[in-house]
Amino acid sequence: MKPVRKAVLPVAGLGTRVLPGAKTTPKEMLNIVDRPILSYIIAEGRAAGIEHFVFVTGRGKNAIEDYFDHHPELESQLEAKGKLDILEAVRADLPRPGEMSFVRQMAPLGLGHAVWCARDIVGDEPFAVMLPDMLMHADPPALAQAVSAYNEVGGNIVVVEPVPEGQAHKYGIVALDGDHPSLNRMTGMVEKPPKGTEPSNLFISGRYILQPEIFNLLGDQGKGAGGEIQLTDAMARLMALEPFHALKYDGVTYDCGDKIGLLRANVAYALQHPELGDEARAAVTALLAG
Ligand code: UTP
Repeated sequence: MKPVRKAVLPVAGLGTRVLPGAKTTPKEMLNIVDRPILSYIIAEGRAAGIEHFVFVTGRGKNAIEDYFDHHPELESQLEAKGKLDILEAVRADLPRPGEMSFVRQMAPLGLGHAVWCARDIVGDEPFAVMLPDMLMHADPPALAQAVSAYNEVGGNIVVVEPVPEGQAHKYGIVALDGDHPSLNRMTGMVEKPPKGTEPSNLFISGRYILQPEIFNLLGDQGKGAGGEIQLTDAMARLMALEPFHALKYDGVTYDCGDKIGLLRANVAYALQHPELGDEARAAVTALLAG
């Protein structure tokens, strides 16, 4: 079985739900406490053994590429002023040379189309997809849990979790064969099912391990829900050829592509922060007390 070495990070979406904040700052670069969302995602990928990150970017997303590069002026100023702890934090997310690739999705035609844009860089090997606006707090990290499941059963894995009451029509929903507490064979999946038709209460929450055969299917995948080329639709076709398992992961997910999700993530991560946690708790408590 080939190991999972590469992760595709689609970051070309318009971020409509977090406008106007995402107008000039890519939504994947919005801050959670003291660093951009993508910083947490890269750490999660590295913890799962990912050696190469493929970003699918778009117009107006140059800040992402710049964040993962040196900023010589800033770094030399920090060094000259002896602000070495800040310098260390600024450099912490820098990639090893050649560890990241950037490819453009020239129009935001949907998540499936974005993943397809990475086909030549991924090549003929299994790969992870990480949706960078889904911050998944877990120990071990969510993608590491998915890689462990992959090492056990192979094929394709999607990470799922219970969908909040009444929200199933907004997500990809899976159908399962079996009632194992964590890992079950999938029998179907549907993107944004009309209310009342969802096959389960489990939604695809933002981490996948896929076989490269998905690229052929994405190449001729037509538009689906919302008029977009949906990854879920191509996965549903691949399921006729290859096994899929759904992993109910152990952790908490924050949808940072949504205003309240972004707020929840900021509060939760601030409260858990090793240096800022106590101050954050005091600040939140004071706010709630009015
Ligand atoms: P979302 O649907 O959450 O992102 O896609 P979006 O389209 O930016 O959101 P809204 O609805 O406008 O608020 C999940 C991930 O897939 C990327 C997004 O950047 C996000 O990280 N994506 C989505 C692409 O890269 N290309 C697309 O065409 C669509």
